[in-house]
Amino acid sequence: MPSQFSSFTIRQANPRDVGYVSEILTESFYRSADRQVHFLHRCFVDMVYPLLRYGIMLDLSSRFGEKTPCYACLVATHPANKSLPIATLEICMRYVPAQGHQNFWLGREMQQHPYIFNLAVHPHWRRRGVAKQLLLAAERTVKQWGYSQLYMHVLEDNQTARNLYDHVGYQMYDREGNLNYWLLRKPRRFLLQKKLRSI
Ligand SMILES: CC(C)(COP(=O)(O)OP(=O)(O)OC[C@H]1O[C@@H](n2cnc3c(N)ncnc32)[C@H](O)[C@@H]1OP(=O)(O)O)[C@@H](O)C(=O)NCCC(=O)NCCS
Repeated sequence: MPSQFSSFTIRQANPRDVGYVSEILTESFYRSADRQVHFLHRCFVDMVYPLLRYGIMLDLSSRFGEKTPCYACLVATHPANKSLPIATLEICMRYVPAQGHQNFWLGREMQQHPYIFNLAVHPHWRRRGVAKQLLLAAERTVKQWGYSQLYMHVLEDNQTARNLYDHVGYQMYDREGNLNYWLLRKPRRFLLQKKLRSI
């Protein structure tokens, strides 16, 4: 791997990171240049941006404060400024169907597994391998907790993220939202799984 790609540091987030992490999440999920959005939508997001960011900050603070076992928020920082997160992801425990690829959900057996959410890289730092490094760090964390599978959701139309997950070895486990897809043409949510090699 080129040296500039391996120079990021991954660490556990601390309460001082909440401001930066919420900025990365708001920027990535509401204002990302990756997605084509209508001009009016962009204006609306700009107007409510401080509110959105504040809501995300409150959510993060409460998760940080809860001290739940098997919860982690990882951040990537650049050596030039180790206190400044440039990317983040969270891991928690979540119920997923014991068996994927079923079209019905009534009566499905559910099991708790580690689950990745809120993966985002600040737009200025994308395509340098940061997300890949965060995902690998998440795998190490989950193995330390004693688990051997990781799950996450991705929207069908988020091709960038799907490329990334494909690249690091996640596989399709389940398709959700088929009804919305067929009736309202809303993108489905794909549940992805990665089986981790033993330590
Ligand atoms: C998706 C996201 C996290 C990727 O972060 P990143 O740090 O740029 O990804 P990486 O540099 O680690 O990419 C690793 C691999 O993923 C794939 N990939 C990443 N970005 C891509 C893009 N824009 N187009 C095509 N493939 C891409 C490539 O295979 C890449 O490997 P390569 O650079 O050797 O070709 C980032 O674009 C982002 O924050 N998006 C907005 C938030 C989001 O959608 N999060 C995911 C929610 S499920």
